[in-house]
Amino acid sequence: MNNFDNKVVIVTGARTGIGLSAATLFAKAGASVVLAGRHEPKKEAQKLTEQGYSAVSFECDVSQESDVKAMVDFTVKEFGHLDYAYNNAGIQSPVTKTEDLSLNEYNKVLDINLKGIFLSMKYELKQMSKQHSKGAIVNCSSMGGLVGIAGRTAYHASKHGVLGLTKSSALEYAKDGIRINAVCPGIIHTPMVDRMDETEKTEMDDLIREIPIGRLAHPEEVAQVVLFLCSDAASYIIGQSISVDGGYTIH
Ligand SMILES: NC(=O)c1ccc[n+]([C@@H]2O[C@H](COP(=O)([O-])OP(=O)(O)OC[C@H]3O[C@@H](n4cnc5c(N)ncnc54)[C@H](O)[C@@H]3O)[C@@H](O)[C@H]2O)c1
Repeated sequence: MNNFDNKVVIVTGARTGIGLSAATLFAKAGASVVLAGRHEPKKEAQKLTEQGYSAVSFECDVSQESDVKAMVDFTVKEFGHLDYAYNNAGIQSPVTKTEDLSLNEYNKVLDINLKGIFLSMKYELKQMSKQHSKGAIVNCSSMGGLVGIAGRTAYHASKHGVLGLTKSSALEYAKDGIRINAVCPGIIHTPMVDRMDETEKTEMDDLIREIPIGRLAHPEEVAQVVLFLCSDAASYIIGQSISVDGGYTIH
C-alpha cells in the first residue's frame, strides 16, 4: 500500500511532531520529500539523506503567500513535479475566555492554521492542475475541528475552517483525479503538547480521562493515516475528515 517510489511530497511544519513523522514515513516509503517549516528543518532533512532517503528542506512561513509560492516552485525545481502534500503546520493558542482573547492572538492562530492551509492548497493545486496527473492533499484539522472545548475559540474556529476548505476544494477537483481529505488528530504526544502550561496540563489530564482508548497517541499513528489517504488504497475517498483520536469524538 505504501509505495511512494518516484513520488514527490511536500510536508509543512515538518521539523517536529506529526509533520516530521509523516515526512520520515514518506521518505522511507520511497518518496522525495520537501520538509518545509517556519524554522527550516535542515537537520531533519539531512538526517534522512544520510540514511539514504531523498529529502530536502525549505524555510517557509505558511501564513506568507510569497513563502508558500516559493515552496512549491522550489519543489518543482528540485524534483520536477508534485504528487502529494500534507499541510500540517499549525499552532495552539493559550486557554482564554472569548471576551479576553485579543484580536492579535485570534489573527495569529487563524493566519497560520487556516490561511496557511488555504495558501498551501492554492499553490499546490495550481501545480498539480498544470501537471494533469493524479495527486492527493491531506490537510491537518483536529478533534477541535469537530467539537468545541471551552477556552479554545480561536484554535477550534481555525480547525473547523480547515474542514470547510477541505470539503469544498475536494468537490472542485474530484473529476481531475486530485483527492483532498483531512485528518483530525486527538491528543498526540508532540512538542505542541509538551509546551502546554500548568493550567493547560490540568485541563489535558481531564481530557485524557475522557479518551476511550485511555492514552495519548504517538505522532506515527496520525502519520500512517496521512500516508493511507495519499495512497491508491484511498482512491475513492474525497472530502473526508478521518479522526485519529482514540474515540474522543465518538460521544
Ligand atoms: N499534538 C496534538 O495533540 C494535536 C492535536 C490535534 C491537531 N494537531 C495539529 O497537528 C499539527 C502538527 O502539530 P504537532 O502536534 O506535531 O505540533 P508541533 O508544534 O510539534 O508541530 C507544528 C510544526 O508547525 C511548524 N509551524 C508553526 N507555525 C508555522 C508557520 N507559520 N509556517 C510553517 N511552519 C510552522 C512548527 O515549527 C512545528 O514544526 C498542527 O496543525 C496541530 O494543530 C495536533
